[in-house]
This record gives sequence, structure tokens and C-alpha cells, in this order.
Amino acid sequence: MNRRDFLLSVGLGYLALPYAVLAEEPGLNQRAQSRGLSFGYAINSFQLVDKIFAEAVIRDAGIIVAENEMKWRETQKKDGPPNYATADRIVNFARQHQMGVRGHTIIWHRKPPAWAEAALSGPDGKKLLLDYTHNIVSHFRGQIKEWDVVNEAVDLGSRTPNGLRNWGPYLENGYDFIADCFRAAHEADPDAMLFYNDFGIEYKRQSAKRDAVLKLLTRLKNQDVPIHCLGIQSHLIAGTDFDERLFRNFLKEVADMGIKIRLTELEVDDKNLDADIALRDAGVADTARQYLNVAFDEPAVIGLLTWGVSDRTMRNVALWQTRADRLAPRRLPLDENFQKKPLWHAIAECFDNARSR
Ligand code: XIL
Repeated sequence: MNRRDFLLSVGLGYLALPYAVLAEEPGLNQRAQSRGLSFGYAINSFQLVDKIFAEAVIRDAGIIVAENEMKWRETQKKDGPPNYATADRIVNFARQHQMGVRGHTIIWHRKPPAWAEAALSGPDGKKLLLDYTHNIVSHFRGQIKEWDVVNEAVDLGSRTPNGLRNWGPYLENGYDFIADCFRAAHEADPDAMLFYNDFGIEYKRQSAKRDAVLKLLTRLKNQDVPIHCLGIQSHLIAGTDFDERLFRNFLKEVADMGIKIRLTELEVDDKNLDADIALRDAGVADTARQYLNVAFDEPAVIGLLTWGVSDRTMRNVALWQTRADRLAPRRLPLDENFQKKPLWHAIAECFDNARSR
């Protein structure tokens, strides 16, 4: 290459640089924001040291949630004052990048800290949980916009008269206890948006659970409990019977109570799909598209988070969720190299097609 060509190629290189930056598609949250919605990812603070991971989160997320690091088992490992150091890391990262944070989750039957387990079924169980609720919400006051105050309290398999789970604190006057948890959270941060979050309410066969959740929400609302939003986890399974009309009606019923809705933990289980990657990715994207188009049509829906970022860093899935052929599942928006999959593009298009709020 002669000197002139060399200078020309360097010059063109410089010209191409800003162009390449401009040409990068906007991230998912930008697509969401243009309709008044928001998008985010569930993450773990230790994953942020991976540059490619952090960059994907920074590009796509307007809000983040800790996959596990704000759960009680993590924040109060010993019977002593809670330790929020790890959870603080998530909040600091969010602040640094102008993102919001969802607090997940305060009251949850699964995996309480081992030291607390026995106490939870005893006479002091409820007080322990109410004090903890007040403590964690106070610690993050003004920094965490949204709290999953109560997670997965409805369980029809427990066969209790009110539909609540067979778990110590819910057994006697469970509705009243749940109401008190919301009141404690509200007292600790009156500006936080308070959520009841649950799964198993997305599909056609889940009408009974939808009804039990509606019953709980109605009861709370009728008692003027500060509950502002329903979190619908949205762990979808490709190939499952989704009834658009039923789901639409459910969202409307929630909205009519003056309760907002967020899709909090979207992922798409591909265990029923063909092994072929192109077909599988298309099937996963179609499943999400059908679901999101209905959800985003409801004005009370405020946005979406996925339960993980890429197929490389997805959660350890339970045995019943794994594929019979043992191939690695492809449930998330980015692939194992953090490249956008058809699911990423489907989410983006659903935001584009959503009505503006
Ligand atoms: C899961 C995490 O992904 C796992 O790493 C952990 O072992 C168990 O919890 N509903 C929820 C989430 O509300 O907190 C769960 O997260 C997935 C189901």
C-alpha cells in the first residue's frame, strides 16, 4: 500500500467509526421506552465482571433485578443484622448506568435462611418477616423503585380454603399477614411500587390459579392495602396451549382494580421444540411474540424483564425443564456468544408494535 492509500484507508476508518456506532441498533430498553414501557434483565453481580456481559446489560436494560442476591437467604445468612453488601453492588451498578432496580424478593416460602426455618412456623414467624421487610425496604429507600413484597403465595396444590400455600406464616389469617407485609414495606418507603409476584397464571389450563390470584388481589384492594402492581413471572413453555382471550381478560380484570402489571421473569422453555437451532430459535421467538403482543396491548402493563441475559449464563434449569436430547436449552434473548437471537428481535418488534402509554 502506498502512502496515499494508507492515509486514505486510515481516514476512511475514522469516518466509519462513528458511523458504526450510530448504526448499532438501539437496545431493548430504548425500543420499550419509545412506547412508555421498560425492559430489563435479571443478573448476578458476579457476572458483571465479564465485559461482554456488562455491555449487553448496559445496552439493553433500563432496569435490573438480582436473580438471587437480594433474597433473604443471601442478605441474612446468619441470625444477626442483615448484610446488604452484595445487593448494594447491584444498586451501585444500576446507579452508575442510570438504570432502575427491582427488589426481588422479600416474602418467599422457598429457601429461607437455614437459621430462620424453624422460627417461621412458630409464634414469632410473622414478626420476624415483618421486621425483615421493614429493614430491607428501609435500607434501599429511594434507591429501589419496585419491590416484590410477596412471591408465590398462592398454591392450589396446598388445598387450603383460601388458596394460599401451606407455609407457616400463611396458615392462620394468611391474607391479613400478606396485607401487613405490604403495609410494612409501604411504611419503610412510601414511594416504592409494591408487587405481588407469581407464576403459573399465563396458560389456558391455569384458570383456577388466576382466579385465586384475583381473589387475593381483590381482598387486598378492598382493604386499602398499598399494593400497586402484579408481577407475572412469564416462564413460558413453547408448545403450551396459550389462550389469548383468557389472558387478555385476566389482565383487564387486574387493570380494572387499579393495579398495574409487569412481566417479571420471561424465558422460553424449548424442551418441546425441534433440535435444529434455527427452528428452535424461531419457535422460542414465536412463543414470546404471541404472548407479548397480547400483554403489551393492555395499557396497565408497564414493561418486561427476562430471567437472564444469554444462553451462556442462564439459570440452572430443573430436571423437568431439560430437553430429552440433553441439548443446551436456548431460552434467552442472547446466544452463548452474546449475539442477538430471534427472541431478542421478537421482543424488540413487540415493543415497536405496542400501543403508547
Ligand atoms: C430462581 C433462580 O433462578 C435460581 O438460581 C435459584 O436457585 C432459585 O430461584 N421464580 C422466582 C425466582 O421468583 O426467584 C426464581 O429464581 C425462579 C422462579
